[in-house]
Formats: sequence, C-alpha cells, structure tokens
Amino acid sequence: MNTMTRIEQALEAALVANEGAGCPPKLAAAIRHAVFPGGARIRPQLCIAVAMANGDTDPALADAAASAIELIHCASLVHDDLPCFDDAPTRRGQPSVHKAYGERLAVLAGDALIVTAFQTLGAAGGRHPERMAHVLQTVARGVGTPLGIIAGQAWECEPRVALSDYQRAKTGALFAAATAAGAQASGGDGETWRALGDWLGEAYQVADDVRDALADPEQLGKPVGRDVALGRPSAAIQHGLVGAVEHFERLVQGAIDVIPDCKGAGMLRQIVRMEAERLVPKAWCANIEALAERAAVRAAERSAAPTQTA
Ligand code: IPE
Ligand code: IPE
Ligand code: MG
Ligand code: MG
Repeated sequence: MNTMTRIEQALEAALVANEGAGCPPKLAAAIRHAVFPGGARIRPQLCIAVAMANGDTDPALADAAASAIELIHCASLVHDDLPCFDDAPTRRGQPSVHKAYGERLAVLAGDALIVTAFQTLGAAGGRHPERMAHVLQTVARGVGTPLGIIAGQAWECEPRVALSDYQRAKTGALFAAATAAGAQASGGDGETWRALGDWLGEAYQVADDVRDALADPEQLGKPVGRDVALGRPSAAIQHGLVGAVEHFERLVQGAIDVIPDCKGAGMLRQIVRMEAERLVPKAWCANIEALAERAAVRAAERSAAPTQTA
C-alpha cells in the first residue's frame, strides 16, 4: 500500500471510531470538514518515511503516529483560522471550519481532534506498548508547552519574540515530532531523527511566509497577505523576500545534511528536495521582484473589491 493510502485510511479509521451514535451530528461534520479533503499531508508522510527508514517494524503504530500528528495539525489550523487568531475565511480551498459551522463548533472540533489524536495513539500500543509510550511523549512535546505548537501560537500574545523561536515552536515542533515519532514507532532512536524535522519545519514556515507574500490565494486555498495585515513575525518581513528565500534554502540544506546515514536516506533527501521545490519553486528565485509586484497589484485589486474572499 502506498504512503498516501496508508495515511488517508488511518485518518478515516481515527474519525470513524469517534463518530458513533450519540455524537452531535454538526460536531461530527465539522471534524470531518477539518480533516477531509486534506492538504499536503507532509507531516504524516514524513513520519511514515522515517518509520520506513527504520524498518517499519510496527506499521500500525507508525500509522497511528502519522495520523495523530496530522489530526493535531488539522486542529491547529481550525483554531488558527478563528477570528481571535488569524480570522481566515478559507482553508484548503473551502470555507474554514468556523465559516462553515460557526465559532463554537470550530473550537470544539479542534479540541476533539486533539483528543482523538491521543486516543488513536493510545489504542495502537498493542504490539509494542513501550514504543507507544515514547511516541505519546514525543507527540505531546510537539503540541504543548514549553516548545510546542501551543507555545508557538501563544508567542503572538507577547510583546516580542525571536523569529526563529516562534517558527520552530509553532511549526517546527510538529515536524520534529513527526520524524522522532516515526523512528520510535519502528524501534529507532527518536533523538537521532528529531533534527531533520526541526530543520525542515522551520524551513516550511519560512516558505509559508514567502508564499503569504507572493502566492495567489486561489492557488494556496487560503488568504494571503495575512502576516503583514496582522503584524505577525514573518521571515519575508524580517529578511525581505530575497533574504527569506536564501534563509529557506539554507534551512533545506540543513535538513538534508542531518538525515542520518541509513537505507532510506536517498529517498528522504528526495522527499525534502521535492517538497522544497513545491513550496518555493526555483523559478521564483530568479523572478522575485516581478512576483512581488504582481502580488501587490492583486492585493490592491482585492482591497478595492472587499466582497471577494481575501
Ligand atoms: C499550514 O500547513 C500551516 C503551517 C504551519 C505553515 P500546511 O501547508 O502543511 O497545510 P496543509 O495541511 O497542506 O493544508
Ligand atoms: C500557523 O501559521 C501555524 C499553526 C500552528 C497553525 P500560519 O498562520 O502562518 O499558517 P497559515 O498561513 O494560516 O496556514
Ligand atoms: Mg494563519
Ligand atoms: Mg502563514
């Protein structure tokens, strides 16, 4: 079975397990809306790729780790889009969960997804309970305080934060959990694999900042220009677009350099390179000033037509 099929099936199983009779139907629908259709599914792909590089000796646990991480990611997007955070009306090309189901159900859907994630992990320790315990700790560390997503988002409420600390917590931590948990699910050493997720996750957020400044909202399926509008710390704002792209390339190279020597190393390097090209195409680099100008024109057109989705 290919990796994407594994991921979609594991996510479906995790949701079905909690959609039984008695579940409020609108809540069940809001949860589903947050998870399907998916986005890039990059975190679970990374988790399974690392599990495979470590022999994939407990596929059920690797699938549980991958889907738990994706469910938490989906929860973080639902909460991030709420009016009290980024106030985003669209996500993955459809209305964000609070736009479709209202704010109260969006808060609850995000909460439920986090609970489902840990429940999914807890149910997958049958063959290797000791591995499951490590995976659970790893995932919790990627989500909570002091250095997980929740802490990362909370930095937006502080007067100042170093950009890299903010990005490593709000995005890097879950990538680090994905690589560490993938290894642990297969009996490998989580710490050896954490660095790959750390580098790649920070690179991913830098790329997201560049895309927020340059890309087309229809292509991204979510609003653009939000970082400037909301005064968020952003690599594109802090380093300028050229500097941010250079920073992104350094971080991607850092990720490639820390891939441990193993049988799957070549495949992992390829995944990282392909992901880098998807996020910030090389063609952009040669053309960045023109792209920035086009993005500014689109932004002006959008603000002249306020009824259109941002
Ligand atoms: C968006 O993550 C939020 C960030 C941390 C940058 P993704 O770009 O992975 O979102 P999906 O899952 O593909 O929609
Ligand atoms: C979100 O960062 C990180 C999360 C933990 C959800 P952004 O706010 O930049 O992500 P997008 O641009 O909304 O996807
Ligand atoms: Mg956002
Ligand atoms: Mg963003």
